[in-house]
Amino acid sequence: MFREGERLFAGFVVRRGEAVFGYVDVCPHAGSPLANPVGRFLTREGDLILCAAHGALFRIEDGVATSGPCAGDRLEAWDVVVRDGVVVTA
Ligand code: FES
Repeated sequence: MFREGERLFAGFVVRRGEAVFGYVDVCPHAGSPLANPVGRFLTREGDLILCAAHGALFRIEDGVATSGPCAGDRLEAWDVVVRDGVVVTA
């Protein structure tokens, strides 16, 4: 869990080469956490973020849902950067 002001949230980071993409772990469809029971956030192919609740798929690079019940909606971004090889939150 992370804190932003008074708000606590869970977040996750996807790394693609040198780029990292952080999101709050809440699906815009029904507010469920995205990960499946073993903590996996990505499709089997690793090319999209998958919501385990109802199957929405999101692009890694911008969090936009490409299919599923919230197609067109977007994951809430969480600002993260790589500093000296370590992922840190802004
Ligand atoms: S809660 Fe994610 S698709 Fe329904």
